Amino acid sequence: MQLYDWDKNYSVDFEPIDTQHKMLLGMINKLLLNQLKEKKIILMLMEEVVLYAKFHFFSEENFMQIYNYNGFDFQKSEHAKLLNEIIINSSLYKDDKIKLEDFVKFLVNWFVSHTTATDKKLGKFLKESIGDKGKIL
Ligand SMILES: [Fe+2]
Repeated sequence: MQLYDWDKNYSVDFEPIDTQHKMLLGMINKLLLNQLKEKKIILMLMEEVVLYAKFHFFSEENFMQIYNYNGFDFQKSEHAKLLNEIIINSSLYKDDKIKLEDFVKFLVNWFVSHTTATDKKLGKFLKESIGDKGKIL
């Protein structure tokens, strides 16, 4: 499978969130770069994705709460569902029920829809609320 480059379409036009999304994309690439390594290593990298996704969602939810984003409840429940799906998929890989390729495809699909749909609205809202101060957060 090919590695994934950052694409300007992924940008939500709010730097702190773009930075975190770039990290997530980097973790997808890290899985691909290590795909021939032993399963123990792959599982460690999957755990890294789970932990970072958890942090990322928490961070977005904090932004939403601080600035009274009206999509908070919906997005929080979407985050919980997605986190659960990531955990389920890593368990399926652990139990040899899916391949690493399937896990990566799932993550990439999730990443693209997360960045190009739900987070675009949030990014626009935060940019309007915080303005240039977003650069130092
Ligand atoms: Fe996000």
